[in-house]
Amino acid sequence: EQQETPSSYDSKKLPIYQHKASLQQAVKDNSFLVVTGETGSGKTTQLPQYLHQAGFWRDGRIGVTQPRRVAAITVAQRVSQEMRCSLGREVGYQVRFDDCTTESNNTPTTGILKDILLGLLKQTISPTDKASKGRSVPLKVVVMSATLETDKLSVFLGGCPVFTIPGRTFPVISRFGCAIGQKDTESTVYLKEVVKVALDVHTCEMSGDILVFLTGQSEIEKACDMLYEKAESIDYRYDVQDRTVEGLLILPLYGSMPTDQQKQIFQPPPPGIRKCVVATNIAATSLTIDGIKYIVDSGFVKQLNHNSRVGMDILEVVPISKSEAQQRAGRAGRTSAGKCFRIYNQEFWEKCMPDYTVPEIQRTSLTSVILTLKCLGVHDVIRFPYLDRPEERFIMEALKQLYQCDAIDRRGKVTLLGGLMVEFPLPPGLTRALLQAATLGCEDLLLPVAAMLSVENIFIRPGHPAKQKEADEKHRMLAAQAGSCNDFTILLSVFEKCKASDDPSAWCKAHYIHWRALKSAFSVEAQLREILLRLRQVSLDFPMEKFDGNKSELFRRCLCAGYFTNVARRSVGKVFTTMDGHGTMVHIHPSSTLFDQEGQLDWVIFHDVLATSRVYIRTVCPIRYDWVKDLLPKLHEVDVYDLSSVARQEVTDEEMAKWETKEAAKRQTGSTEDYFKKLEKR
Ligand code: CDP
Repeated sequence: EQQETPSSYDSKKLPIYQHKASLQQAVKDNSFLVVTGETGSGKTTQLPQYLHQAGFWRDGRIGVTQPRRVAAITVAQRVSQEMRCSLGREVGYQVRFDDCTTESNNTPTTGILKDILLGLLKQTISPTDKASKGRSVPLKVVVMSATLETDKLSVFLGGCPVFTIPGRTFPVISRFGCAIGQKDTESTVYLKEVVKVALDVHTCEMSGDILVFLTGQSEIEKACDMLYEKAESIDYRYDVQDRTVEGLLILPLYGSMPTDQQKQIFQPPPPGIRKCVVATNIAATSLTIDGIKYIVDSGFVKQLNHNSRVGMDILEVVPISKSEAQQRAGRAGRTSAGKCFRIYNQEFWEKCMPDYTVPEIQRTSLTSVILTLKCLGVHDVIRFPYLDRPEERFIMEALKQLYQCDAIDRRGKVTLLGGLMVEFPLPPGLTRALLQAATLGCEDLLLPVAAMLSVENIFIRPGHPAKQKEADEKHRMLAAQAGSCNDFTILLSVFEKCKASDDPSAWCKAHYIHWRALKSAFSVEAQLREILLRLRQVSLDFPMEKFDGNKSELFRRCLCAGYFTNVARRSVGKVFTTMDGHGTMVHIHPSSTLFDQEGQLDWVIFHDVLATSRVYIRTVCPIRYDWVKDLLPKLHEVDVYDLSSVARQEVTDEEMAKWETKEAAKRQTGSTEDYFKKLEKR
């Protein structure tokens, strides 16, 4: 559907506009070009259109990649509006679990990390590469960046030119607060303070919109609720300094937000109303909201970090870096002088905040990156030209995990299963479990679970104590109705109950379940199902077997096929020890239905780990040792040094013979497939 561009918006006024001709020329002259300029200067929305006007599309497509899904969607919407065409035809987008493209599209986005993409492009365009020979259309790569990394990018791309769009920024005064010091990392502390400061700004500062930085969806919604409540009691005749301010419009902004709500963020508020956007870090570099004059910075960000102690990626709330804090403050100075209110003190700045943010590829598990590379034909994943080279031991860790999940073999080659796994935008363990279920014909049990684990937490826990009690009771009731007592079955049961109800949104409200999250889960499930269906059609070797047994046991055994890397055994009291060789001491998270029943448990598997005051395991399921007995040796049998030399393609005959021997030993212990075959026969 074609939409009107707001009349106040004039793309000719953006800083990039004056450089249109020289940018078009620079792209003609160079294979690689780095374009840099302040966020909001028009790089993302305008440059693709300039290239389109210069005729670059005639030879193929203009592809734009965006690291964040909300940004990808809103930018595609904006560009289609400006070009006066309908979204999904000439201009489209493609994000994880949402494809809005057609054959004639010229703006696909990819789910591949920037690092990988640039490495692949560098390899493709390099003159020694065979792939570039004989290509009739020259490939052009423009890297757009708002940050300080332009020199690094230029060096990486063989010293290509850097085009700088001069900025038009205004001074921003930043001041430290006193609420957060070196020791405060509890979200309740900074949440309350952020709300207080935002309200102070609203009542004491001149007109101009506010942008609040918090870390995640549930926190943002809590903050918005608190703001609504407090803003209601403001008497605009007496309480507000600037008499032109007559109201507050509070808008949440986070990654998984529904598309219809996203549009509101960019619209100017009605006259007299101050807009207050409460956002995740997405508003720091990925999206530019006009009219922001005040920033309230919590000083924290939610980040996926690989924890080598636990051997897993953990979503953690951590202090932002100093450069990130400056980037956040800069959002207030785009249209006029602005102010940034930091709620932390100087000591926190000096002692807790690192100078720069470590690139994602260097702090997360590399399994999907490595599998993607392997599937793209890059065998030597160690010497691949990464923009930000990950540590070798993490590449090894990823190879090991992929091997354990049967995604690659001992020679580092992608297996049939690995080729299927790469199609699923899920962690490898979950994909493995799902494919196991699919081969046994019980994917209906696993698809909803995989979908539910791919969206934000679905259980609402209100801040108010009385409501909290009520919510806890409702959730306990849902757990009881789910029958068998484990967190995965509850997810399945909630999914099915809600789907079957006449009014799903009312059902969610009554049960303190997040309707929006569930709605996304429905759509994710449908898309996972589609992927599975497509794979069944194309892959003749993709088996389909029948299993008639105890459903609950079958379900848990399928989970074991993927989650045997996440097995823990109770050691003493409420303490469990992981079986992955790290022997980490873990506790069951209070949100689990198994919390307080630890004493009756022995072996469990878990979906993820949360490290706060303790190391907690979340989404837990009791299992029997028997079910993982044959799988557990896989966690120890693989030698990372073998994998290393395989990855480097330095395999000698002698080494190969060694593997063959090990391979034979492995066959004796019985592989995963044999194991499930045995199970099926029983
Ligand atoms: O890429 P860069 O940060 O340089 O700028 P941009 O994303 O192209 O944004 C240019 C202008 O378009 C800004 O004023 C944004 O606020 C606006 N914009 C918008 O109004 N709606 C969108 N969906 C995207 C951008």
